[in-house]
Amino acid sequence: MSERIFSGVQPTGNLHLGNYLGAIRNWVKLQNDYDCLFCVVDLHAITVWQDPAMLRTSTREVAAAMIAAGVDPEKHIIFNQSQVPGHAELAWIFNCVARMGWLGRMTQFKEKAGKDKENASVGLFAYPNLMAADILLYKGTHVPVGEDQKQHLELARDIAQKFNNDYGVDLFPVPEPLILGTATRVMSLKDGSKKMSKSDPSDLSRINMTDDADTIQRKIKKAKTDPDHLPESVQGLDGRPEARNLLGIYAALADVSIESAVNEFAGQQFSALKDRLSDVAVANLAPMQDAYRRLLNDKGQIDAYLAHGAERARAIAGPVLREVQDVVGFLHVGKS
Ligand code: TYM
Repeated sequence: MSERIFSGVQPTGNLHLGNYLGAIRNWVKLQNDYDCLFCVVDLHAITVWQDPAMLRTSTREVAAAMIAAGVDPEKHIIFNQSQVPGHAELAWIFNCVARMGWLGRMTQFKEKAGKDKENASVGLFAYPNLMAADILLYKGTHVPVGEDQKQHLELARDIAQKFNNDYGVDLFPVPEPLILGTATRVMSLKDGSKKMSKSDPSDLSRINMTDDADTIQRKIKKAKTDPDHLPESVQGLDGRPEARNLLGIYAALADVSIESAVNEFAGQQFSALKDRLSDVAVANLAPMQDAYRRLLNDKGQIDAYLAHGAERARAIAGPVLREVQDVVGFLHVGKS
């Protein structure tokens, strides 16, 4: 089977450094070697309440951020999920393949639903089935994501295998997660044990891809540290989540290994690392921000990219869906 990349990001607010280092930066690298689809997953977004006008705005912003980060919208397919009905249709079929027990084990559902599971949407529970449908609707073989999506990817693999087994076919590839780089799990700047996330109420916990230089510097300055000097070895990072996080972010942005980042600041105070990290973060993000702002001034252009992307995506999805329908036994009345 030919190789194809699929990945997605939710339009639920600002993209942050975790999204960039964990996912989008890798997409930019991989696009030279694979055919890619990059999706703004608006169907996933509404598993929790979204204001409709905000959802539309965020969809454009996320698409613009992907392009500003270097994804090529002419060569590859960028689109929003709701514009290809096959995602919802295949997700329904996967709702009937996946088992309740599998979904019940998903840590992200437990985290997001919190204590009030009875009040969570059914969509939030079935979320990983839709994610499997996203990938498999295009027979995606490789899925570059951050570490937090690993469990969902394992579920997608289980669904592909169970479908193939149940129907005795070799229709779906078993997709491989690509969790690449040194910053596969970027943590909050305010708490090194919590993931950097769009939903954290404190904006100081994350660096947004749209933050200006002053904001980036201020957030890094205020980032939590511990009282010790920076360690002399990578082992010295054990039990020091803030040091590990800041050095990990630095290593990723400066494109050096974690060992070399540790050596560079061995025995120094956090302030030395923070100064360098601010410079590197600003140098990395500034060019993207210029491109992002230019794109957002031209909504027609973003919409044109998304429309063209959706058309190309539908063209790939159509025959796969037809194949699935035939395997499942859906009768095509009046059609050959
Ligand atoms: P989302 O929108 O939460 O995140 C988008 C991408 O960013 C990565 N990421 C991180 N990486 C490192 N450190 C962090 N703190 C961090 N926070 C987020 C995520 O791992 C992800 O790669 N369910 C997915 C979207 C999705 C998808 C798909 C992905 C829907 N369908 C099909 C791949 C394939 C999500 O909510 O990502």
